Amino acid sequence: MNQTNPGRLDPNGRVMMISGANRGIGAAIAHRLRLEGYHLSLAARRPDDIPEALGDDCMHHPFDALDPESPRIWADATAARFGRIDGLVNNAGTAAAFGFEDGDEADLDRMLEVNVKAPYRLIRAALPHLRVSGSGRIVTITSLAGMRFKRGSPGYAISKFAAMGLSSAARSLLWEDGIRVTAVGPGPVNTDVVAMVLAMPNNASVAAVPINAVYEPLP
Ligand SMILES: NC(=O)c1ccc[n+]([C@@H]2O[C@H](COP(=O)([O-])OP(=O)(O)OC[C@H]3O[C@@H](n4cnc5c(N)ncnc54)[C@H](OP(=O)(O)O)[C@@H]3O)[C@@H](O)[C@H]2O)c1
Repeated sequence: MNQTNPGRLDPNGRVMMISGANRGIGAAIAHRLRLEGYHLSLAARRPDDIPEALGDDCMHHPFDALDPESPRIWADATAARFGRIDGLVNNAGTAAAFGFEDGDEADLDRMLEVNVKAPYRLIRAALPHLRVSGSGRIVTITSLAGMRFKRGSPGYAISKFAAMGLSSAARSLLWEDGIRVTAVGPGPVNTDVVAMVLAMPNNASVAAVPINAVYEPLP
């Protein structure tokens, strides 16, 4: 347990994998978790683009969500480097804007591949190590678009609703292994919340965090 923050898990020595850590929300989460003292396995299509400085407690690795082998290769490399995996942040995502009467179905397939199937494969790849951890954590960055539909791209919403389903299934099925699973659904962007749920002990867990900037009812 964390001595300075009783009730929170001690980040020191815990290993977190973050996909899409080269920019945007992923880079911000990586920066925040590094300040907390986690060991980080940061992945991106072009790992040289990852801004967090390399140190003994941080590795950079290639990850392409469109390659079905990539999740296993990255998880194996993380376990080989650190000897453990305590958490996974499924952050990499893609959006293509088109409606029901325009667009290309290949764009829908790509969103499903990157936003749903890659996180599914990453959970499978990290799972044996998260089980050994006893307090494994999985955060999937979904979207408010995956919690209700207001406007925008139906295909993106479909992929993010599916990512919510993935998170919900993992939360239920992995609970007895001490693994806690949270879907974080940004509208505007907030990264502190990811650090917060990663550090919550097994007996205090949050299923989903919708981040709204304005009032709106959610189902
Ligand atoms: N920003 C928002 O307002 C917002 C709102 C709701 C949800 N989200 C979600 O939050 C997450 C991060 O969003 P962001 O705003 O930080 O987006 P971003 O700046 O566009 O970054 C997306 C990240 O995903 C990576 N990525 C895309 N396709 C990939 C692939 N095939 N393989 C590996 N990595 C891939 C990108 O890598 P490259 O640099 O190589 O392209 C990049 O690292 C996404 O899941 C997004 O859907 C964002």
